Amino acid sequence: MAARIIDGKAIAAQMRAELKAEVERLKAKAIVPGLAVVLVGDDPASKSYVTAKERACEEIGIYSDDNRLPAETTQEELMALVAKLNADPRINGILVQLPLPKHLDEGAVLLAIDPAKDVDGFHPVNVGKMVVGEEAFLPCTPHGIIQLLVRSGVKTDGAEVVVVGRSNIVGKPIANMLIQKSPTGNATVTVCHTRTRDLAAHVRRADIVIAAAGRPGTVTADMVKEGAVVIDVGVNRVEDATKKSGYRLVGDVDFEAVAEKASLITPVPGGVGPMTITMLLYNTIESAKRAHT
Ligand code: GUN
Repeated sequence: MAARIIDGKAIAAQMRAELKAEVERLKAKAIVPGLAVVLVGDDPASKSYVTAKERACEEIGIYSDDNRLPAETTQEELMALVAKLNADPRINGILVQLPLPKHLDEGAVLLAIDPAKDVDGFHPVNVGKMVVGEEAFLPCTPHGIIQLLVRSGVKTDGAEVVVVGRSNIVGKPIANMLIQKSPTGNATVTVCHTRTRDLAAHVRRADIVIAAAGRPGTVTADMVKEGAVVIDVGVNRVEDATKKSGYRLVGDVDFEAVAEKASLITPVPGGVGPMTITMLLYNTIESAKRAHT
């Protein structure tokens, strides 16, 4: 079987058009959603994510507040900025780009963000609400994966899902979302990680594979069941002298070979990536709506 490609760029563009119309409706009621982005230091990948987030806000009419701080920023300075943004009524969402430089306490910073403005869905209050199935801001990458599945007609009800990776940003939340008793959940989920004894044996059972390990070549064709749906969350830079930048992006999945067996597969780039920012815009608009009801 040759897989159909899940075109994340096209699905994201369609959702962003819907969100732009929503922002216009809100602006007619004098409500302008606002997102504050905080970047500490100058990690090149983080810089390019943050720039992409700000550009996406502009494109759909969300007010974007850019906070770029030097790598030497102290915990106190960062906490003071978060407190200021918590108190600013123009700001509906606060995003502190991770990872933070090593000398900063990431957990303390996430805990300081007002859960009502936590559009990343990383605050323990929102994580807890998600786990117990209450309304919460859902983390953007896993929420984007759910949207890709729904909009590609993939049913999760009763499906065997194998998640590879147990990060707080992707692996743990996507597993939690997929076990919820809901039309976009109801899956039987296995979470594999670096201490899993036989990764291939688990992946082979999966109707849906979600690769979020952060390592190229984690999922190979021999591991994948014929007709499986494969979602590749990996964004790995590998050296490539033929590229102007000196690198190219690859996922965690051996795309060419796995595409021969899968029924549906996401490419890298152009799969999950564009959905992450889209769901951030979605959460920011939701937050603005909640602030005005
Ligand atoms: N670093 C990698 N992904 C993310 C994300 O979704 N949000 C934030 N804040 N940092 C990240």
